[in-house]
Amino acid sequence: AVAPAGDIHADRILILDFGSQYTQLIARRVREAGVFCEILPFDVDPGRIASFGARGFILSGGPESVYDALDYRIPAPVLASGAPLLGICYGMQAMASQLGGKVAPSTEREFGHAVVRQTADCVLLDGLEGAEGHAEQLNVWMSHGDRVEGLPAGFEVVATSANAPLAAMQDVERRYFALQFHPEVTHTEQGAVILSRFVHDVCGCASEWTSANIIDDAIERMRAQVGNGQVVLGLSGGVDSSVVAALLQRAIGERLHCIFVDNGLLRLGEGDEVMATFAQLMGVNVTRVDASDLFLNALAGEPDPERKRKIIGAKFIDVFDREAGRLDDVGFLAQGTIYPDVIESAGAASGKAHVIKSHHNVGGLPDTMTLELVEPLRELFKDEVRKLGMELGLPRELVFRHPFPGPGLGVRILGEVHAAYADTLRQADWIFIQELRDAGWYDRVSQAFAVYLPVRSVGVMGDQRRYDHVIALRAVETVDFMTARWAHLPYDLLERCSNRIINEVAGVSRVVYDVSGKPPATIEWE
Ligand code: XMP
Repeated sequence: AVAPAGDIHADRILILDFGSQYTQLIARRVREAGVFCEILPFDVDPGRIASFGARGFILSGGPESVYDALDYRIPAPVLASGAPLLGICYGMQAMASQLGGKVAPSTEREFGHAVVRQTADCVLLDGLEGAEGHAEQLNVWMSHGDRVEGLPAGFEVVATSANAPLAAMQDVERRYFALQFHPEVTHTEQGAVILSRFVHDVCGCASEWTSANIIDDAIERMRAQVGNGQVVLGLSGGVDSSVVAALLQRAIGERLHCIFVDNGLLRLGEGDEVMATFAQLMGVNVTRVDASDLFLNALAGEPDPERKRKIIGAKFIDVFDREAGRLDDVGFLAQGTIYPDVIESAGAASGKAHVIKSHHNVGGLPDTMTLELVEPLRELFKDEVRKLGMELGLPRELVFRHPFPGPGLGVRILGEVHAAYADTLRQADWIFIQELRDAGWYDRVSQAFAVYLPVRSVGVMGDQRRYDHVIALRAVETVDFMTARWAHLPYDLLERCSNRIINEVAGVSRVVYDVSGKPPATIEWE
């Protein structure tokens, strides 16, 4: 028998964000170590820090310098709490400067690889073996201009590097630790172990944050929220709404009503797949609405990308609202909002760093809908949602599917959308994705798709001259979809895709491959 889950949120770590691009990585590593954590901006209302009930705090890195940013400080409730503290990069410098040490600009800025040597016992570092087999010597990732040059009272140095004589320090009595390097990035050897030791061995947190426990907890909480009520959910075929459906199915069974809107802009076979998976395999209540004509008519004659997005978003709400209105007594609306959508970050408040993504699948709900939101994924990162999906028995292809924009093929047909273009694009896209899967490339790229270019280009086929449209193929590698590199697919794979698309799909005379990075190009063409 499996021990019943404790309170999976009880042992919690608070990460204070000073604007580092790596802050979310710290949170993911802590969660991977089985401990719940949240991120708050360092300048959040101090009351929220005090009431959070953290077993320990982690201070992130950040782009600031302690002299320039006198207000980028460790909040008072953190220091007053008596809880353990781990400062990373800027977090270390803030600790040093606020606790009475000395921080100075380094003569050489240090970016990238460095070697640190342990010089004293430290529970975070003891006995760690670097990849080159050296105990007490680790390859790490550095990114700093300033460095700590004088220890605050009570601290001792525990590691050094060529450029940072004080690469790590500790005050064992207060349980304060600080690292000049970034343990959260994969380039740092044993970084995940260092963070795990902090949350377990120093802060004393138990490993309650596991997929199985998260599922049990979400089910319990949704049951408590919904009571005997009825819930409606818009199923998109993407991983987030799918995991919400699977969780709610377990929690409330047939009191969940899913609505799947076929807007005529989906990929080949997508509608049938969604129905097969949810209605048949998982026994979820799903209403499929074929609204292709509605969407295509609304889009007729509109070439502008942003206006197309608005039309599709507005139509979706119309259709969803109408269908939901047919259900009796629905009191709740479930949504697949995930943690990155709700994180408040340091840069956002001060207008620096972090560009906020402006796309949303559902543009906003009509004011007339008085439904209470059910959002079981609000605390989860995407990789955690995927783990839940696997644990809940969703098909792997669905769980690891590339992202697909809400407006679907509507923004992959450049300019005016026509039903015939959508049919052609669906076939070309399907061939491309199938070839990527067969060649083992699908999981190696982050997103791949075909784009319909309604320009005419001359070709010959047999003895026939053709004057048909062009298909562009796009495949990118990215971590966060904010920047991306075009995927260097093998030429023979591209050749197979091109031959098949031109031969098998009527109306296409030419295939091109997009070699633009983001920036300056975006991932989608519109
Ligand atoms: P861009 O094209 O901005 O895309 O580089 C970044 C990521 O966002 C997706 N995307 C959208 N998703 N509605 C969505 O739900 C949209 O209107 C939209 N536009 C782009 C895109 O597919 C990529 O993953």
